[in-house]
Amino acid sequence: MSTHTLTAAKEAKKDEFYTQLSDIAEELKHYRAHFRGKTVLCNCDDPRISNFFHYFAYQFESLGLKRLITTCYKSQQRDLFSQHDCERAISLVYDGDRNGNRVPDPEEIGIRELQGDGDFRSPECIELLMQSDIVVTNPPFSLFREYVAQLMRFDKKFLIVGNQNNVTYKEVFRMFLENRIWLGYKSGDMAFRVPVDSEPHETRYWQDESGQKWRSLGNICWFTNLDIPKRHEDLVLFRKFDSLAYPHYDNFEAIEVGKVEDIPCNYDGVMGVPLTFLDKYNPDQFEILGITKTWFGMATKTYPDQIQISKDGTRKKVSKLNDGAVLEVDSPPTGKTYYEVDGRKYIQTYPRILIRRK
Ligand SMILES: C[S@@+](CC[C@H](N)C(=O)[O-])C[C@H]1O[C@@H](n2cnc3c(N)ncnc32)[C@H](O)[C@@H]1O
Repeated sequence: MSTHTLTAAKEAKKDEFYTQLSDIAEELKHYRAHFRGKTVLCNCDDPRISNFFHYFAYQFESLGLKRLITTCYKSQQRDLFSQHDCERAISLVYDGDRNGNRVPDPEEIGIRELQGDGDFRSPECIELLMQSDIVVTNPPFSLFREYVAQLMRFDKKFLIVGNQNNVTYKEVFRMFLENRIWLGYKSGDMAFRVPVDSEPHETRYWQDESGQKWRSLGNICWFTNLDIPKRHEDLVLFRKFDSLAYPHYDNFEAIEVGKVEDIPCNYDGVMGVPLTFLDKYNPDQFEILGITKTWFGMATKTYPDQIQISKDGTRKKVSKLNDGAVLEVDSPPTGKTYYEVDGRKYIQTYPRILIRRK
């Protein structure tokens, strides 16, 4: 196998994380009203093994679905995990229970061989996307940007699993800014089954008594454009603004708020808050203006030559002070990296979302 093929295979393996039925059911219970009379597409899902297919097939009648379509990528093997050893894939259509037993039987499921490998970007998969109303899946982590862009291009409703860091992608963040995407209910830890040949990891990896391998990730969330009650609940705030507790950034007119629960209830200016704010965001309560990581051209200052002084005292010339919100400090912080520019000392915050009260 060539190095290129091996690298591609390794990369593809990183996408093989399988969602548990309990996580799907727990999230989907908040969206039931959206599904009546709708065609659902799960387009990164081997229908014979995907819990997304399982969930919708068994809930077909109680959700009042019109049709369920799933497609799988490459493999047609009947084993637990996609081995990607076949270039052709299948699509499956389920129109609900016909024999009255309220269970999706094999003879009620239409299986069709796809012409290509089932890539969600292929014309035949796009054709299925166009026939669908709502897309629900856990798409490949490595293609998240492209996946969301396609959903938006075809103006589809969706509920998909992703990583919190996806929020900081420029294209994705713009959608948050424009209230075209938001976070669903669950955010945080989620455990996934992984293929039998997955490499062990030091943390967040285990094998259960049946030999099944698992990985967990601490920053998983659901991305959606389906309206949910949570999105209209006000974040209850208890802290009052105090200029000493909330320093101003040096490179943008906003205050630093290190924890979402510390957002002051009486501050009308711009505030920089952690990414976890998005889990509590109510567009009637706050307006999102930007993000410090990509800035969208909002930073008011560019730092010239910067010296980074690491925790261990190592000094290095860098330019990264320009990539985030900056606070000036009087003295070097203990146990933290800081920066020197023209004899002044600065620290950089984690990526911050810039918000303002409405
Ligand atoms: C994170 S896994 C989730 C699988 C399944 N949706 C679930 O939640 O259990 C992403 C899946 O997308 C598949 N995939 C990778 N690239 C794809 C592509 N270009 N088009 C469609 N599916 C793809 C992978 O094979 C993998 O099974």
